[in-house]
Amino acid sequence: IREASQPDEWIICASFYRLLCLIPTGFPVRSVNMQRSTDNITIRQGDTAIIRCYVDDKVSKVAWLNQSNIIFAGRDKWSLDPRVDLVTKGQLEYSLRIQKVDVYDEGSYTCSIQTKQQPKTSQLYLIVQVPANIYKISEDLTVNEGGNVTLSCLATGRPDPAITWRLLNPSGTREWENEMTEYLDITGIMRNQAGRYECKASNDVATPDVKYVNVVVNYPPKIKKTQSSETQVGRMGTLQCEAIAVPTPEFEWYRDEARLSNSQGINIQILGTTTILMIANITEDDYGNYTCVASNRLGFQNASLFLYSEYCIMHSATLHPLWVLLPLLILCQIRVEEDKRLDEFT
Ligand SMILES: *[C@@H]1O[C@H](CO)[C@@H](O)[C@H](O)[C@H]1NC(C)=O
Ligand SMILES: *[C@@H]1O[C@H](CO)[C@@H](O)[C@H](O)[C@H]1NC(C)=O
Ligand SMILES: *[C@@H]1O[C@H](CO)[C@@H](O)[C@H](O)[C@H]1NC(C)=O
Ligand SMILES: *[C@@H]1O[C@H](CO)[C@@H](O)[C@H](O)[C@H]1NC(C)=O
Ligand SMILES: *[C@@H]1O[C@H](CO)[C@@H](O)[C@H](O)[C@H]1NC(C)=O
Ligand SMILES: *[C@@H]1O[C@H](CO)[C@@H](O)[C@H](O)[C@H]1NC(C)=O
Repeated sequence: IREASQPDEWIICASFYRLLCLIPTGFPVRSVNMQRSTDNITIRQGDTAIIRCYVDDKVSKVAWLNQSNIIFAGRDKWSLDPRVDLVTKGQLEYSLRIQKVDVYDEGSYTCSIQTKQQPKTSQLYLIVQVPANIYKISEDLTVNEGGNVTLSCLATGRPDPAITWRLLNPSGTREWENEMTEYLDITGIMRNQAGRYECKASNDVATPDVKYVNVVVNYPPKIKKTQSSETQVGRMGTLQCEAIAVPTPEFEWYRDEARLSNSQGINIQILGTTTILMIANITEDDYGNYTCVASNRLGFQNASLFLYSEYCIMHSATLHPLWVLLPLLILCQIRVEEDKRLDEFT
């Protein structure tokens, strides 16, 4: 029974029997190429495998073997495995059925046939495939800009799945198609590398498994935009300051050295990354230099803003006595300088 099949025997066999086929249930019977001593049959874990063997009435004894274990000898079941049974059609079919195939079923299966002259065997190699499955992926993480990050994505599957990484963020998608690795190293991470990282494990057995890691990159505030204001006495003056930072910045306003807070005539609003200082009913005393300070736990940045008299644009200063004019001229000079600075800024 254990005798290895010889090519010439195969030719004899082929003329007597349609020998072996193995198919997942529901598929058409697959013919075995008789030139090869062993055919590979792939099946997905959990499916039912039917390993076909056809015989005729000249056969006296038949058996199924799994490696060196006898599974069936004729109709007698030797295997204790309840998932295993025979599929027979009259005298002609002697196929082996394995339900809920698992990875340990992988291996060679032999249908052994005893005719009047000599024994014949036919072997099939069962390959069990398992869909890719990501069983471990890095937790969401937060890192300071410039830090080093290693993301990991561990997956099982048969055959071994290929791992690919992608960064999905609002400013576009970045792919690491060639870096098929379960570990993605990012040295000196930049703020534009923050976002949602997608790990995809694929092995063509089933649809790829996909999981995500969110990476937050912290960085200190940078004031992006300031808006000074020119306002007439008696009107409301508004100063505006916008900063980018992660975590979201906190804002403070100063008039020279003095911290400003919501009080009579002063209203400070914070809308996400922008803050607005509103001074109701401007007086001459309110003109001058204000400071906006944006801070988070990584640092701070401050910017100077100015509340100007309208005279800076109107050039009607001649209507005023010199003691009003002088400070205004200084303020107007400041404005010219600040405009230059903002020009450089943008
Ligand atoms: C069966 O699979 C093995 C490895 O997976 C391969 O080396 C061999 O060529 C295959 N045989 C056939 C007949 O496809
Ligand atoms: C095949 O043999 C292996 C090792 O002896 C065993 O673990 C497995 O259950 C067997 N499969 C069947 C279907 O009998
Ligand atoms: C990041 O990695 C680089 C290169 O491996 C190393 O030189 C640097 O010290 C690391 N930085 C930190 C913060 O660990
Ligand atoms: C505005 O005030 C800040 C802080 O008080 C100071 O550093 C800056 O030089 C002032 N700007 C001008 C133009 O006076
Ligand atoms: C604005 O301030 C002036 C001077 O303090 C005051 O006379 C006037 O009533 C104020 N106007 C408003 C609308 O509060
Ligand atoms: C900027 O902020 C720091 C800390 O709050 C402070 O020491 C410094 O004086 C500020 N600079 C200006 C120009 O206000």
